[in-house]
Amino acid sequence: MTTPILKCPSCDLPLQLSANSWLCEHGHQFDRAKRGYTNLLLAQHRRSRSPGDDKAMVQCRTAFLERGRYQPLIDALLEELPVGDASWADIGCGEGWYTAQIAQRMGAFSGVGVDISKFAIDAAARRDKQITWLVASGARLPLFDNSLQYALVMFTYLFIDDLARVLKPGGEVWVVGTGERHLMPLREALYEEVRMNEFDAGKFFDERFERISHSTLECEWVPESEQELRDLLTMTPHHWRARPEAKAGIGKLVGQPMNGDFVIERWRRRDKDSQINKVDGVGHD
Ligand SMILES: C[S@@+](CC[C@H](N)C(=O)[O-])C[C@H]1O[C@@H](n2cnc3c(N)ncnc32)[C@H](O)[C@@H]1O
Ligand SMILES: [Zn+2]
Repeated sequence: MTTPILKCPSCDLPLQLSANSWLCEHGHQFDRAKRGYTNLLLAQHRRSRSPGDDKAMVQCRTAFLERGRYQPLIDALLEELPVGDASWADIGCGEGWYTAQIAQRMGAFSGVGVDISKFAIDAAARRDKQITWLVASGARLPLFDNSLQYALVMFTYLFIDDLARVLKPGGEVWVVGTGERHLMPLREALYEEVRMNEFDAGKFFDERFERISHSTLECEWVPESEQELRDLLTMTPHHWRARPEAKAGIGKLVGQPMNGDFVIERWRRRDKDSQINKVDGVGHD
């Protein structure tokens, strides 16, 4: 399996790796960091100086995920993902805990890990030297049209237009989001009234895709320390949303059951003909 062909974010020509830099024929150059990742996010495409998760969030995510509490989730995905040489990308891959395990199943050379946070990608690149790690936005992937068979989007934004562009017809997006009851004891400790909302990928996909599966998965564990709960809190949006007094009290949850509740969906990129039929209203699924 050859490594993915990257697209120059300035001019869309292919990038070639020469020594430790990616170059296009127009002379645009992107140096590969010592750690092994490449920053392809242009300054004009950044909304802030350091977009995405900050260093503390990344460190807490690593500390929490490495405890293995979410292993049942990645195990369920790995069981279903194909073994072999399909091209794949983990978009919004964070610090790469899932990505590195996916690479063991699907092949590291054929994989791309993309995140807009350079702290996240710097951490991810330590996990595997063969995956192509990129700082880039999921809204503007430096990948060619029709180049991917699988895109994984876990707990992050779904940019449907770019997914439709980079996926081959028949290619799949695997989306993981949180279910209604996700981290219920934590949310009950943080908020007077817990809002029951479930991630709904269907709000984002359109006629270019068809949903081919929907499943849920729950897991339960007992947090061992206040540090574990702090790591968990810091990697979730509750870190920003909850009041400081409420956050200060989460130590009481040590030794009490905690739960993960996940929604897993697969969406297939339709081929162009079936899309036209669908738009005309004469097609059938
Ligand atoms: C909740 S974390 C999930 C990380 C990883 N998928 C996981 O499950 O461990 C969301 C990630 O999306 C990244 N992110 C936010 N906006 C993004 C964008 N426009 N493009 C790519 N990644 C983005 C953040 O930096 C962060 O690492
Ligand atoms: Zn270029």
